[in-house]
Amino acid sequence: MLVTIPDLLSAAELAEVHALLDQGEFIDGRLSAGTEARRVKHNEELRQAPDLYQRLNHIVMNRLVRHPLYRLACLPLRVAAPFYARYRPGMTYGYHVDDPVMGGEERYRSDVSTTVFLTDPSDYEGGELSVRTTFGLQRIKLPAGQAVVYPSSSLHRVEPVRSGERRVAVTWAQSMVRDPGQRALLFELGQIRERLLAEQPELEETGRLSNVYANLVRMWADI
Ligand code: NI
Repeated sequence: MLVTIPDLLSAAELAEVHALLDQGEFIDGRLSAGTEARRVKHNEELRQAPDLYQRLNHIVMNRLVRHPLYRLACLPLRVAAPFYARYRPGMTYGYHVDDPVMGGEERYRSDVSTTVFLTDPSDYEGGELSVRTTFGLQRIKLPAGQAVVYPSSSLHRVEPVRSGERRVAVTWAQSMVRDPGQRALLFELGQIRERLLAEQPELEETGRLSNVYANLVRMWADI
C-alpha cells in the first residue's frame, strides 16, 4: 500500500526547511548505510548538528506524526528521527529494502518508510522514487511538501538525478500492526469510520463499525 499525504508542509514551512538545510553540512550518505545498502547508495545526508537538526525536526516531524492520514496508514508505535538527504546530478540510490532493525540504543523494527519531498519537481530531473508493488512498479515524484508512505519491506530505488537537486526527508516507523496487509485493511476501514463519525454519528451502524475497527486494532496490535 502506497499512501500519499498531500498537505504535509506549507510553503512557509518549506521555505524555513530549505533555509535551515542551506546552513547545514552534507556528508556522504554511505556513512549511515548498512552493508548491503552501501553498495547501491550514492547520495548526501545532513550532518546532524544538534540545534539545526532539532529545528528541522520540529517542523517536519511535528507535522508528520500528527497528520491524520499518516496515523491511519501507519498506526505508529515508534517513529524514528529522520535523515535529510540530497541528490545532485548523477546521484542515485539503487534497489534495496530498508534495514529491518534500526536505531542505536533504542532499537525498532522498520515497518513503514516515509519520504517527504522537499523540492519542487520542476527544479530537478529524474529522482523519482520507484517502488515495486504487487501491482507493478510505481514511480513517485510528488510536489514539494507532500509525502509518500510505503512498506519498508518493498523493493525500492531512487532514480538517478539528471539535473538540479532533489531534497527529501526520510524516516521509518515501527507500526503497532506489523503485517502490511492488515495495515491496508485497517487503513480502508479507518477512513470509512472517520467519514461516518463526521457525517452520520447518530447512525447505529456507525457505532457498530467503529467498534469493529477498535476490536480489529486490539486483535492485531503488537505493542
Ligand atoms: Ni530505502
